[in-house]
Parts: sequence; C-alpha cells; structure tokens
Amino acid sequence: MDDIISCIDIGTTKVCAMVAKLDENGNVEVLGKATEPCSGVKKGVIVDIDSVSNALKSCIQKVRALLNIDIESVYVNVMGSHVDVFCNKGSVDVSRQDHQITSADVQKVLKKVEDVKLPENVQIIDVIPRQYIVDGCDEIVDPVGMAGVKLELEADVVVGKITTFNNIVKSLENANVKVNGFIAESLAVGDLVLNPEEKEIGAILIDVGGGVTNISVYKNKCLFLYDSIPVGGDHITNDISIGLKVSLNDAEKLKREYGLALTSIISNDHDITINEISENTKRTIKVSEVVEIIEARVQEIFSLCREMVEREGILNGFTGGVVLAGGGISYIDGSIQSAKEIFGLPVRVVSYKSLGVKSAEHVTAMATIRYVANRIKSETKSGGTKNNKPNRQKAKKKNLAFSKK
Ligand SMILES: Nc1ncnc2c1ncn2[C@@H]1O[C@H](COP(=O)(O)OP(=O)(O)OP(=O)(O)O)[C@@H](O)[C@H]1O
Ligand SMILES: [Mg+2]
Repeated sequence: MDDIISCIDIGTTKVCAMVAKLDENGNVEVLGKATEPCSGVKKGVIVDIDSVSNALKSCIQKVRALLNIDIESVYVNVMGSHVDVFCNKGSVDVSRQDHQITSADVQKVLKKVEDVKLPENVQIIDVIPRQYIVDGCDEIVDPVGMAGVKLELEADVVVGKITTFNNIVKSLENANVKVNGFIAESLAVGDLVLNPEEKEIGAILIDVGGGVTNISVYKNKCLFLYDSIPVGGDHITNDISIGLKVSLNDAEKLKREYGLALTSIISNDHDITINEISENTKRTIKVSEVVEIIEARVQEIFSLCREMVEREGILNGFTGGVVLAGGGISYIDGSIQSAKEIFGLPVRVVSYKSLGVKSAEHVTAMATIRYVANRIKSETKSGGTKNNKPNRQKAKKKNLAFSKK
C-alpha cells in the first residue's frame, strides 16, 4: 500500500503545500503542489493567524482541486529560530533473555533520550538518532536483530516553544487540517541538499529565505550549529526600495531583473528608467546603482553568518565548504564569489532543479516530504522487521518519534 505524505511550508513570503506518494520500495513521487502569497509571518514568527490561515486555506484548496484528494493532516516545517537542538544519550538493558535486540528495546532507549528536564513552555518535537551503541560497539544504524546486553543511543533532540507550535496548529486548524508532526526546517533541508561527504568533511549551510536566513553547520556527520538570523531576500528588496525611492513592487522587479551580487561582474552598465514614488516622476539610473545595493546587503548577510560561525569557533581548522540555498540567494548571480571572499572557503549553490523542484522556493517543502519519507522508511525497517509487509500507517503513528505529542 502506498503512503500519502502531505506537508506545508510556512514561509515569510508564501505558504506552500506539497503532496507525495511513498511506494512500498520507499520511492517518493510528488503528486502535486501549490503556493500562495502570505504576509502573516514576520522574521519567521506568525504575527497574524488569520492571514496565515486564509493563505493556507486557499493553498490547500488548490492542491485538493488539483489532485482530487482530501488532505486531513500535514507535516509542517518549523524554522531555525524557533528550534533548539542538543545531543543527548540514553541507555537500556536488552530485555530478551537471548539478548536479541527488539524494536521494543529501541523504543525504550528512545524514551530514555527524551527523558530530559525542559522549561515549562518547551516541548520535544523530534529525536534524531546519531548512532546506536551495542555493548560499546558504536556507529550502529539499526540495532534490531543484533545481540547485546546493553543498548545505548546518542541522538539529537529537537525542542521548541509550545506557543510557537500552538500558533502553527491554530493556523492549520483554521484551514481545516490537523498537524501530523513538526519538522525542523534546517535539518530537513540539510538532509536533502548536503551529500554525505559534505556532512563528514564539513558544511556551512546558508539558507536565505525571504525574511530569515537559517545557518546549520555539519562536521563528522554531526550537526554542530543550528541557528538563524532575521534577515533575508526581502531585506534586499527593502534596501532597493529605500535607496532608489521606488515602491516595493518595483524594487522586487529590479532585484529579479538585475540580481547580481557584485558590481564587478556587470557586463553592460546601461541606463534604466525607474519610477520615484515620492516625487511621482521617472528617473534614469545605471544598473550598477541597483547592484551596489544588492552587493552590500548580500555581503552583510554572509558577514553575519560568518560572525556567528566564528563565534562558535567553527572556522578554526575548518576544511569544508559553504553551501547556499533558498529563494533569497539562489537567483543572485555572483553570490558564490561574494561568499568565497567572506568565508575564504569553497562555495556552491544548491541546484534546485536537480532536487526535482521547479524553483528554489519549493526546496523546503520537498525537504520536508523527503525527511518524513526517510523517517517512515527507517522506522518501518526497525519496527517491522518481523513482518514482510509492515503496516505503514501503523508504523507512522506508533513509531515516529517526531509525531505531535
Ligand atoms: N528571481 C528571483 N530573483 C531574486 N530573488 C528572488 C527571485 N525569486 C524569489 N526571490 C526571493 O526569494 C525570497 C523568498 O524565498 P523563499 O521562498 O525561500 O522564502 P520564504 O520561505 O517565503 O521565507 P523564509 O524562509 O525566510 O520564511 C524573496 O525574498 C524573493 O524576493
Ligand atoms: Mg522558507
């Protein structure tokens, strides 16, 4: 039986709904998606539940109409600024007398890892195993069926403020859908866009959205840093609007048309005519005047990211590279050179087309779908090894550590 996975990306500029099919072999096929502009989120925080609910309603309605299916529940992303990740360890004695590890032991050790004292307004949304350790033997991915006396788990625990989740739940409930689980956005995007070598050698993932830039750093396959800054592509638009005295709409158009991160790569610095809003008159400027503004803001975003990474001491002896993603930076030519100058490291931009999506703005939704699919696959594997045909619906509800509590 195929599983249907539905997810929602609530972003600063838009909401996006994506529905995919997970077949018995674990392959994911996107069935449909829709986006809807949304202005109810500022700096990654829902500030207007009605506006978010209305955007969600019409977005979900579009997908329902497109696919002719009902969407009752969804997985939803939670942005970096709302989420903390810390590493925790748990250990249990293997319960069976013959010392064969069962999925019940795995569930028990997962519970142990979740057993942490948290502030009253904080809840766990996900537990991501880094490695299982059986009688001191580490780096085990799936311990079920192995023999041992002691089972340990080292895992990343993802937590966030209950109020944030309540606002997301409320917005979705107003749009008549329930929340299946919350997915930490940067972790999902990291899993989708970084290859295993990058995670091993070291990668600084900079995901520039509309209003927020998420930064996550991986090294030795582990997450080192997970944070965000409240600046994104919309700040470039704002700067153009203020600097050239044009409307936000015109500024967005100028950014999309002349989106370069460096004045040094302008090939033809020709004249362009703009509409000054305050004077209501037309004025002629050079392309370089737009690019200068973009250049300054892009440099500022990268410098802020560098400062954050430097503060954590990550750049000392760092031999990895920088990976750029997100709608705010993916279309700005020259961003690679700009980031190289600031970080002094190799840089690449994620090719969203190679991920099977038509635009950089769909990467988070795709990442959420893939993340859920991978978790269903691995949970089904460890929870259903005694059964040739595991009940996926059951596995989804019972075993996923990231289900809504
Ligand atoms: N062709 C383009 N050229 C330049 N910028 C673009 C282009 N298309 C989209 N953008 C920018 O991408 C940004 C939106 O990206 P994205 O969809 O990743 O953000 P979001 O998910 O809505 O926001 P966030 O993740 O910050 O909450 C906007 O700032 C928009 O101006
Ligand atoms: Mg986003």
